[in-house]
Formats: sequence, structure tokens, C-alpha cells
Amino acid sequence: MELFIDSANLEDIKKAAELGVISGVTTNPTLIAKEGRNFQEVIMEITKLVDGPISAEVIGLTKDQMVKEARELVKIHPNIVIKIPMIAEGLKAIKELSKEGIKTNCTLIFSVNQAILAANAGATYVSPFVGRLEDIGEEGIGLVAKMAHVFEIYDYKTKIIAASIRNPKHVDQVAEVGADIATVPYKVIDAMMNHQLTDKGVDQFLKDWETVKDK
Ligand code: E4P
Repeated sequence: MELFIDSANLEDIKKAAELGVISGVTTNPTLIAKEGRNFQEVIMEITKLVDGPISAEVIGLTKDQMVKEARELVKIHPNIVIKIPMIAEGLKAIKELSKEGIKTNCTLIFSVNQAILAANAGATYVSPFVGRLEDIGEEGIGLVAKMAHVFEIYDYKTKIIAASIRNPKHVDQVAEVGADIATVPYKVIDAMMNHQLTDKGVDQFLKDWETVKDK
């Protein structure tokens, strides 16, 4: 399973890129707002850190507004993927952009029905939000599992980006049920590296090495 970083923070993106484990980036207006900087400038800087799909979200709520914003955003870099919310106008925009060869990521997906609609419209990616579903007591992992099953049966080319990932267990679970990609905040990537037995093992190896290193 591929990993993307879900962030607009350049330091975090740089740290994740240096690990060599991420192949793309997703952003959203909330993540951009946290940085308090110009949207297009941030996206441009991200393209210099990661050579892979970088999702930048449109703000307009009509098809025409979304398509116009998308055409401007893709001028920043060929790796830009246009993130579009799962609303009727969004589907129309996805259709239009897919005809123009512009890649899209249909976001705010909370049901298999929504994923089917987005895939039929020609979305390159769909982003089901695991954590936000769990926040309201619904099944996030189950949704990704059903979606992966349906996409496999019908041989959809649309890729599933498991989003709203809050902890390493979510990553483990979405990998097991067939997500193509998980997009994760840096703190989750960091937590994925840790295991108490790894730390214990490294300490022990060093201690044992000390006893023979001068022999
Ligand atoms: C994904 O593309 C979204 O930007 C993100 O995963 C949302 O996560 P949150 O529910 O933690 O805000």
C-alpha cells in the first residue's frame, strides 16, 4: 500500500520525504489555513519536496467555478491532482476535468454509493474519511473494505485513498482491507516507526557490541 502525507506543513512534508516512504501529498483548506500562507505558494513549494501526486482542493461550489480553479491549479505543476468535494456540481466538474486529462481526487466520501458515483464520473482517486466516520460512531474501516471489494468486482481504475487517518492502527486496518493508498499526518508516520521491542533490541545490540568491539 502506498503512503501519502496529509499535510500542508513544509517541515513535516520534508521530514516524511527524507524517510523515502511517501509517494504523494494531500492537502485541504483546513490544512492550508493552519499554515497561514498563500495557497498557491504553499502548493508550489510542496511540488519541490515530493515528486508524486499532490492534491490541491478547489473552493468553488459550482461546476464552472471548480473547473476554472482546477485549470489554474494544474498550471503550477504537472503533479497537481484536483481535490473536489462529493457534491452534484463536483461530479460534473470531475467529468469535465477527466475529459481534459486532469486528475481528480473526490473528497468527503462517506458511503459506497458516493464512491461509485465519483468513480463513474471519472475520478482518479476517491477519499473515504475513516476517522470522521468513527467520530460519529460509524464504521470507517468497514466502508473502505466494502469500497475496495466493489471496485475490485467491477475493475474500477479509480484508486482508494483512505483519509482522515488518526493513528497507526488505522493504517494497519486500511492496508488489510485493500486501500490503494493511506494518507496520513506526519505524527502517524512517526508513530508507525516505533515498537518497544525495536528500541530494546537496538539497546541490547549496542551493549553486546561494547563487550567485543576492542577484541
Ligand atoms: C484527506 O484528504 C483529508 O484532508 C484528511 O484526511 C481529513 O482528515 P481529518 O478528518 O483528520 O481532518
